[in-house]
Amino acid sequence: MRFSEDGSDVLVVGGGIIGLVTAWRSAQRGLRTTVADPEPGGGAAGVAAGMLAAVTELHYGEQALLGLNLASAGRYPAFVAELEEASGQGTGFRTCGTLSVALDSDDRAHLRELHALQQRSGLDSQWLSGRECRRLEPMLAPGVRGGLRADGDHQIDPRRLASALVVACERAGVAFRRAWVERLTVSGGRAAGGVLADGTELAADQVVLAGGSRSGRLPGLPASVAVPVRPVKGQVLRLRIPPVYAPFLSRTVRALVRGSHVYLVPRADGELVVGATTEEMGWDTTVTAGGVYELLRDAHELVPGITELPLTESRAGLRPASPDNAPLLGPARLPGLHLATGHHRNGVLLTPVTGDVMGEVLATGELPEVARPFGPDRFAPSPGAPLSGTSGGTSASGSASASDRTHQEQTV
Ligand code: GLY
Repeated sequence: MRFSEDGSDVLVVGGGIIGLVTAWRSAQRGLRTTVADPEPGGGAAGVAAGMLAAVTELHYGEQALLGLNLASAGRYPAFVAELEEASGQGTGFRTCGTLSVALDSDDRAHLRELHALQQRSGLDSQWLSGRECRRLEPMLAPGVRGGLRADGDHQIDPRRLASALVVACERAGVAFRRAWVERLTVSGGRAAGGVLADGTELAADQVVLAGGSRSGRLPGLPASVAVPVRPVKGQVLRLRIPPVYAPFLSRTVRALVRGSHVYLVPRADGELVVGATTEEMGWDTTVTAGGVYELLRDAHELVPGITELPLTESRAGLRPASPDNAPLLGPARLPGLHLATGHHRNGVLLTPVTGDVMGEVLATGELPEVARPFGPDRFAPSPGAPLSGTSGGTSASGSASASDRTHQEQTV
């Protein structure tokens, strides 16, 4: 590795949870690390529910991603213990498990198929009758037809996770520049840092692009570096469970309601998160009446008592989605540039393994085995292909229908 005299060893562009965990691990490896972000700890983690759902969000055709998801889920307890110690803050990590249920026979057939796929994949989940589901969670609707119990799918509070990562970074010596990098600088055929809006140049020997759904839009990226990441909108509600109703739910409950996905994530502090829409709407983060209506309608069908709870917040965020739903991790085709983006539905789950992988590759130049299927080069244009200016990621045009929680997910 080359280390700069007057700049940083590592510049991380983007201070969401992926950028922060990368910076924390980088600083722990002795690298002088800077994070550039107007609002470190913001981004999609401010909206996400924080399900750690390697088993219940299994999808056909994503076996490689499953391996990475499981590797990260397995690291979570030690990661949380280390982070809470380093930051002096809690993260809301809760080993409560998840129950996926079905409300009609079509949903049950779908869930049966998911169960079979989980079993073929060697995952731990148990089929329950409707009565057994209601015995576990008495607030469930009487119409629940069956469900899958996954005791290993836990949860964390992503806002507390982000806050703890900011403090851990500060304590590890990470420098924060509260501005967005306006342009990547390239010098001598390698990434050399970035320029802030006020013209300040941040020099660095290695640059990590961790800008979430905006990653592909960074000016200065050469056309040889493909960052095909697009925003996928998710609307999420937050409610409060008054003590008189507690325990309202004891674990994460999710369902297919006539083919649509909905999840309810109960925090230990009484917050209940209800999510989420999946919408191809470009950069739009409007909370819509239709989105809120669908979430409440489906959540009410699953847990009728939800209508008694105070509604405290509605927000929309953008998942950074890649063409194969898996992240882009490690060296890009431009020397000195690394990517840590494209985590789509799994950013919170993949935070520990992303930190470990990025810390290792930044310190040693070696991408750990677990991350090799996720190298950014899998999307790079083949040599000799026509180049057309800078890489701009995918268009993220708002082509598809407004709120479709059924067809965009490619679930089983
Ligand atoms: N992983 C949950 C979501 O993306 O909505």
